[in-house]
Amino acid sequence: MTERVEIFEVGPRDGLQNEKRPIPVADKIALVDCLSGAGFRRIEVASFVSPKWVPQMAGSAEVLAGIARRPGVSYAALTPNMRGFEAALAARADEVAIFGSASEGFSRANINASIADSLERFAPVAESARAAGVPLRGYVSCVVECPYDGATDPREVARVVAALRDMGCYEVSLGDTIGRGRPEAVDAMLAAVLDEMPADRLAGHFHDTAGRALANVDVALARGLRVFDAAVGGLGGCPYAPGAAGNVATEAVMAHVERAGYATGLDRDVLARAAGMARDMRSER
Ligand code: HMG
Ligand code: MG
Repeated sequence: MTERVEIFEVGPRDGLQNEKRPIPVADKIALVDCLSGAGFRRIEVASFVSPKWVPQMAGSAEVLAGIARRPGVSYAALTPNMRGFEAALAARADEVAIFGSASEGFSRANINASIADSLERFAPVAESARAAGVPLRGYVSCVVECPYDGATDPREVARVVAALRDMGCYEVSLGDTIGRGRPEAVDAMLAAVLDEMPADRLAGHFHDTAGRALANVDVALARGLRVFDAAVGGLGGCPYAPGAAGNVATEAVMAHVERAGYATGLDRDVLARAAGMARDMRSER
């Protein structure tokens, strides 16, 4: 049987969060509804963060209320703290994610906390997610490079991954937030992380600033990872990672891994339609 690679679609969240022009909730809902028919198991559609920090995500509850939920698809939301978690629960997010960093500089810039403080802040979210039976995913940003601190020590990544694992994250997504990671650095980072968490509970999350995201997917595949986050149409960036380009495009990852012999279960035509919608939402840069 053909081995499977899962693409976790993050376009409606990671893709759109960086857009300067306010995107109408109806357009976000239309994008999610189109993506729901593409064959994804998981789509990140919302982010319950401070609207002062990321204004574009302010309509997250309306998005979750307005989408046509397709059975078998999990609609995910970012939750940085208890306030975000409670809002995600009220909006019926199917799963939530806490998001930390392997570098102090990005942690402070992105969530206004040291790594240690952020882990303390995540603990009650993890506890509440467990109590509510809501699956919890974890993100670690800047796994190879940080826009503020430079190269990241793989041992720091492994340490944060272990902390998120201990809090009960079913999967940890490893973010090359600024998309400048070299395959050798990604490989060294994975070698350290795999001491703490098995490959089938890790995901690769590569932004594509330097055009090396697919090479980094290959390195991760060779290390046994089979889940990759991507954004339809290559949307995105992070407002607190200056210069970071979008996530690697879902269509590009799909074509790349299918050429390598993996099945994704995704519908190319539906994806092409969603990519067109995503591009229309994108402001000129
Ligand atoms: P803070 O200023 O330290 O926290 O922000 P605070 O508790 O003092 O709150 C500040 C204000 O935000 C208050 O409002 C709170 O009520 C409000 P005010 O009293 O000033 O009117 N607030 C909230 N509002 C709505 N929902 C909430 C919430 N929490 C507080 N949940 C905080 C700390 C974490 C809130 C802030 O730093 C924040 O929202 N940061 C989010 C930044 C972000 O979303 N970045 C992008 C996502 S991460 C990413 O893209 C990387 C990833 O893709 C992986 C990768 O690529 O590496 C995941
Ligand atoms: Mg990202």
